[in-house]
Amino acid sequence: MKLWALSDPHLTLATPQKVMHVFGEVWRDHPDRIRENWSRLVSPEDVVVLPGDISWASRLEDALTDLEFLHRLPGTKVLLDGNHERWWNTLSQVRAELPPSVKAISGDHVEVGSWLVFGTRLWETRQIDCDALVAWNQSTDKRPDKRTPEEDQRNEKIFQREIARLERCVQALPNRPWLRRICLTHYPPLGPGLEPSPASELVERSGATTCVFGHLHNLKKAPGGRSRDLFGTARGVRYVLASADHLEMVPVLLDET
Ligand SMILES: [Fe+2]
Ligand SMILES: [Fe+2]
Repeated sequence: MKLWALSDPHLTLATPQKVMHVFGEVWRDHPDRIRENWSRLVSPEDVVVLPGDISWASRLEDALTDLEFLHRLPGTKVLLDGNHERWWNTLSQVRAELPPSVKAISGDHVEVGSWLVFGTRLWETRQIDCDALVAWNQSTDKRPDKRTPEEDQRNEKIFQREIARLERCVQALPNRPWLRRICLTHYPPLGPGLEPSPASELVERSGATTCVFGHLHNLKKAPGGRSRDLFGTARGVRYVLASADHLEMVPVLLDET
């Protein structure tokens, strides 16, 4: 049984007017490429975690088209909400509509296969700086250095709230020594230098072996145009950036039992 990750698929089946390749050629026909790569790699008994930015839909009833797309792919899927999840009502409303092979978490956990999967979205904060990794697009991005002090203050408030949610989520984890703990966050819980942050301290105390996240897009390439190896293992936790464009729409293998 294998555990895979693919974050930020930004699915557009429910919103075909949303043209993703304005964000780069890597996004051209991305649902088709996700389906091909996923179907080739993932078996029905496997688990795939998707930590946020799942669908461009605005309403839950519209997002069902994208959720059905995921359901038809092999494996059990675990979703976390990202900052683009306008369709994500309350967790109980989302859970009531999910197709059978799709599960959702948000500040709580789910037991699936050999894993105890938990986590929260987190948020933008000046305390975790990943700006140097991103090749900013003048026409589509709002650069963090253009934020006003008021926006910074609002973001810090939300980040603190998310930290408190993660703390409660970790405290509520059941004692299941036979399950490996996997933490999902949408925003990176630490910077590329792996220096500790309030979020990574909680992740590392939680007993998680791996923490997976996304949110970062359009990352600077290594010489030769290849995606760079980013993040890595710190203080016993493997930190994995799984944004779909960074992975070129190919799910990344996290664990195998
Ligand atoms: Fe995203
Ligand atoms: Fe995001």
